[in-house]
Order: sequence, then C-alpha cells, then structure tokens
Amino acid sequence: MHVPFVSLVETNREVKKQFLESVSQLLDSGSFILGPAVQQFEKQFAEYIGVKHCIGVSNGLDALTISLRCLNLKPGDEVIVPAHTYIATALAVIHAGAKPVFADVDESTFNLTTTEIEKHISSKTKAVIPVHLYGQPCDIESICSLADAKKLFVIEDNAQAQGAKFKNKKAGSFGHINATSFYPAKNLGAAGDAGAITTNNSDLAEAAMQLRNVGSLKKYAHGSVGYNARMDEIQALFLKEKLKHLDKWNAERRRIAALYQENLKHVEQIALPQEIANVESVFHLYVIKTDKRDKLQKFLSEKNIQTLIHYPIPNHLQQSLSFLGYAKNDFPVTEKLCSTILSFPMYAGVADEQVSYVCEMIQEFFESK
Ligand SMILES: Cc1ncc(COP(=O)(O)O)c(C=O)c1O
Repeated sequence: MHVPFVSLVETNREVKKQFLESVSQLLDSGSFILGPAVQQFEKQFAEYIGVKHCIGVSNGLDALTISLRCLNLKPGDEVIVPAHTYIATALAVIHAGAKPVFADVDESTFNLTTTEIEKHISSKTKAVIPVHLYGQPCDIESICSLADAKKLFVIEDNAQAQGAKFKNKKAGSFGHINATSFYPAKNLGAAGDAGAITTNNSDLAEAAMQLRNVGSLKKYAHGSVGYNARMDEIQALFLKEKLKHLDKWNAERRRIAALYQENLKHVEQIALPQEIANVESVFHLYVIKTDKRDKLQKFLSEKNIQTLIHYPIPNHLQQSLSFLGYAKNDFPVTEKLCSTILSFPMYAGVADEQVSYVCEMIQEFFESK
C-alpha cells in the first residue's frame, strides 16, 4: 500500500466546484490583487481567529517580516526565536533589520518555554517569537505574562497552528501582532503562496497594510519603505472556500493522531507527541522521536510509506546563519531532536487503513530489532 506524506486531493475536491466558479467570475471582473475577495477573506479569518484585524499578504515569511517591521526595531535590537523551527522565523528577524537570538526548546513539546526565553533576555531584547510548532500552541499565556513584565513584544508564528487553541482561544490572537502562512500543505493552504497577519492593535494593522503595499495606503503616496507583499484575489477565493471546512479538517487530523496514539502506545522505542494541559493541537505534523530514526525511515520507505524530517539541520548551524556565530552543542535539545524526530503521514483525507498499515509496519520494524 502506498502512503504519501501528504495529499491535498481530498480536501481540494471539497472546494473545487465553488472555487472554479468564483475564478471564472474573477476573470470577468479583472480585479486580481487586493480586491473584494481579499477583503472578505481578511474579515472572515479575523473572525475565525478572534482578532480585530487580518491583513492578507504574499506568504508567511513576508507576514513575519512585516509584523516585525511594524515594531520599528533598530539595528542591534534582539528578537528571541526558537532554535527548533522552520528557518523563516529567524530569517524574518534579519530581514526586519534586527538580530535573531536563539533559545532551546522543550524536548517533549518541541516549543519555547518561559524558562528558555528568560535565559536569553538582555538589555537589547525587544521581542520574542513563540512558534506553535507542529500545530501545538506554546504555553502562550505564560510567555505573554513574561513579555509583559519585561516589556517585550510578542509575535506569534502561527504558520503551523491555524485553528489550534490555548484555553479555548485561538493561536494567533495572543501576541501584539502575529503571522501565519497559507503555504499549500498548511492546515489552511492556498493554491500557491499566501500568508496573513492578525492583530487587535489598529495602529499596527494600519502599519502592516501600508508595508505590504509598497508603503502605501493611498495610491502614489508612500508613507513607509514597504514591500510588494500583497495577497492575490485567486488565493483569497480559494482560502475563503477552505476556511469553511477548516474545523472539520482539523478535527480529522486530531482523530488520525488519536489512531496513531492508540496503535503505537505500546511501542516503547518511540516517544509519541504529548499535548500539554489547556491546549488543543491541530496536528499540522505528527512528529515522533526514536533513536532508530534513520533506519526506521529507510524501512518505511521500502514499504512505500513516505516520511519526512522537520527539520534535519538546526537553524543555528545553517550555513546562511553562520554569521551569527553559533556553534555545535549550543542548543543540545534542538540538536538531539534533529537526529531523532520523524514526521509520519498526516493530512485530512488519509484513510484509516493507510494509518493502520503505517502502524503495522512500525511495529514490524521494532519487533525485528
Ligand atoms: C513555522 C513557520 N514559520 C514561517 C513559515 C514561512 O511561511 P512561507 O513558506 O509561507 O513563507 C513556515 C512555512 O513554511 C513555517 O512553518
């Protein structure tokens, strides 16, 4: 049996008819960028997340960069980011003219904690970017309390946790200004690149709207040094349709995670994902840990099961970031995770038989060891 890591066929099928009809109308309208569909989607996504403002942009990296730019950081200002995250979190800080300062993550949740953040707060620290990695929110309430006490901005990186909750409030509604990505394979994925900023702060929202559109809110008047980071109508039309189904698809991911948990809980050589108290993960990825990671991945590949590693090289050891001066062993948890984590197939639409097959093969692998 073939089990792909991810397939968008099932979810896309649910929105295809409506989407194609709306694209046909779009072609007649000729309004392709920042038009009515973007405005409608922004309103709907803001309501969904539970914030006053949503600003649709071109992708998640731009959403992060613009969020940071809105805070008027100066060269030398420091922003604390997790060492274990997709590299875009750190790149955005550099693009915004500040310095990323890595902090190690918690081994069981893969996320930043207040203990780790506190170790890196200096007189230059201006902000922190908690990433809700793999779909599970950080303990965002404690992080916001710490940031409040230390007068730091909080920018949630919500690229992987659309719809996830902390104490019944959605991820992406806690920070001063927050960023998400609608990269196609995300829980809410576009038909190409797209992203969004969410905030309750009207001044920051206005600054973000200006920055995404070459620094302009009024045609040919440019108030800030902006970007071309606008959202296309075609992406907004697709996202509007998909947003209607997001809760159902997230519930399906949670059900699949429970299936993995049930089938694999007796396999001692694997550490399964742990949900912390007060959170509801949306399992963007289902990431396990095992010392036999590479052999397991090879075995599963031979059985036609596709798995991936998120992420194999720690950010502080990436060549592009070597100028920051980090070295091996600086973040032991992150480094250990990079050699032990493995992401199993996880998407709305994976069949129960496929999940059962993956679990059977994992059991077969460990029984033969
Ligand atoms: C945690 C995280 N932050 C930021 C991004 C950047 O998003 P994009 O690929 O849309 O630029 C991603 C997505 O890939 C991500 O997973």
